[in-house]
Amino acid sequence: MDNVIDLMKKHTSVRNFTEEVIPDEVIKDLIEAGRAASNWKNFQSYSIIVVKSKEQKEAIYEHQPQKSIINSSHYLVFVGDLKRAETAVTMNGGDFQPAGVESLLISSIDAALAAENILVAAESLGYGGVMVGLIRDQSAEISDVMGLPDYTYPLFGIALGKPARLNEVKPRLPYETVVFPEKYVVQDEEVIKAYDKVQTDYAGQRRVDSTWSERMVSQWGQPELKSSTENLKAKGLL
Ligand SMILES: Cc1cc2nc3c(=O)[nH]c(=O)nc-3n(C[C@H](O)[C@H](O)[C@H](O)COP(=O)(O)O)c2cc1C
Repeated sequence: MDNVIDLMKKHTSVRNFTEEVIPDEVIKDLIEAGRAASNWKNFQSYSIIVVKSKEQKEAIYEHQPQKSIINSSHYLVFVGDLKRAETAVTMNGGDFQPAGVESLLISSIDAALAAENILVAAESLGYGGVMVGLIRDQSAEISDVMGLPDYTYPLFGIALGKPARLNEVKPRLPYETVVFPEKYVVQDEEVIKAYDKVQTDYAGQRRVDSTWSERMVSQWGQPELKSSTENLKAKGLL
């Protein structure tokens, strides 16, 4: 196993896998390593659905057609989960009030920490993967496919498998642009333009039809997609 820090610095998302199937006991071990992550008040407000069957992968793919889902050995779906909390609160005679941003932050952060742990653990064994958050564009449909009850919502998946090939490590923003001594430092346009160039150079021969900052326009230059919000309302979380 690599030194952990070196391993983490070598991370790249893997979207193309060989046909090798990760043994179930290895998947279980990766998930147990992931579940060791810190979490809010030890409430563990998330669940993980392990998708291995072709049928279930295809059912997800039908709504969010990303090849990594189909080609993965295992596709793990991370669910923000206050269903157990409902049982616990009700059992103790409480008045269950899960709706609101704070609950969403708690469950999303818990799930994200576990997920990243799982991905790092997988990479330590020579496997790889990619997180797939775009399943939130079809939140209600994915909830149905996964059989999610009230007080739960789909966050993202991780497609895991044996890498067919590895991308070059993607350069991050310069350290000083993201990490500040003592107080926040607002960054100007020059910083953005400089990183656009870094990203364009990184893409090299690969076709890119937009710059890094232009891609933010399609994310944040318009109202957000309603799918997540509507589904969260339907599930009693907003
Ligand atoms: C929460 C989350 C959701 C993501 N969703 C997708 C996705 O739907 N499809 C995809 O190809 N990559 C997805 N990614 C991968 C990112 O695009 C990738 O991590 C980022 O571009 C940095 O590249 P790297 O992981 O290779 O360093 C997601 C990453 C995160 C953390």
